[in-house]
Amino acid sequence: MSSTTHAALMDGVYRRQKHIYDATRKYFLLGRDRMIGQLSVPPGGTVLELGCGTGRNLILANRHYPEARYYGLDISAEMLDAAEKATARAGFRPDLARADATAFDARELFDRDRFDRIFISYALSMMPAWELAIDRALELLAPHGSLHIVDFGQQERLPEWFRGGLHGWLGRFHVSPREKLFEIVCEKATDIGAACSCEPLYRGFAWHAVVQTT
Ligand SMILES: C[S@@+](CC[C@H](N)C(=O)[O-])C[C@H]1O[C@@H](n2cnc3c(N)ncnc32)[C@H](O)[C@@H]1O
Repeated sequence: MSSTTHAALMDGVYRRQKHIYDATRKYFLLGRDRMIGQLSVPPGGTVLELGCGTGRNLILANRHYPEARYYGLDISAEMLDAAEKATARAGFRPDLARADATAFDARELFDRDRFDRIFISYALSMMPAWELAIDRALELLAPHGSLHIVDFGQQERLPEWFRGGLHGWLGRFHVSPREKLFEIVCEKATDIGAACSCEPLYRGFAWHAVVQTT
């Protein structure tokens, strides 16, 4: 699928949803706050979110690490519109840009080519070429940097009926939990000599992975 087609699809999904997104997603996009609490951003560090949606995570991260500089990108103009409004209401001005997380030029968008922390929250499950977004993120990590991913897991310790029902429902929103997420992230981390840790959360409802460079 081309970037333009995917952007139009995402705008279609979020045109109306963006108004109720934060209020409704807090009940099932589990593990986001935990991941943000563990970012340990160094003072004056740089933080990039790929697929930043409404900006809710950037706002929370800024509360935890107010001295950091923040950047966010999203393919959906609708979501970026929500993010711009929400961050302005919070009195916070991250650098936001519209781009495809699987193919973007950080220098062109943000005038930077290294970030101390990059995170991707519940967005890889919506990107057809999700593995490329991991490649882009790893290319942009500064030394002693880290990439943090949280997304739907495989619900491996939840009943089969729940898993089937959830996957069917998520499919209606073009969300596909990535069965090979842990395997691929750790393979890519090993390729660049970085450490990788993977942890299922909430009986596998969500998965959390962290890659740390040396
Ligand atoms: C489920 S929302 C998650 C938003 C936010 N990260 C959160 O945790 O609330 C997924 C977001 O990923 C964005 N997205 C999907 N595919 C993308 C891509 N290829 N590049 C950039 N953003 C993308 C969508 O537009 C949407 O804002």
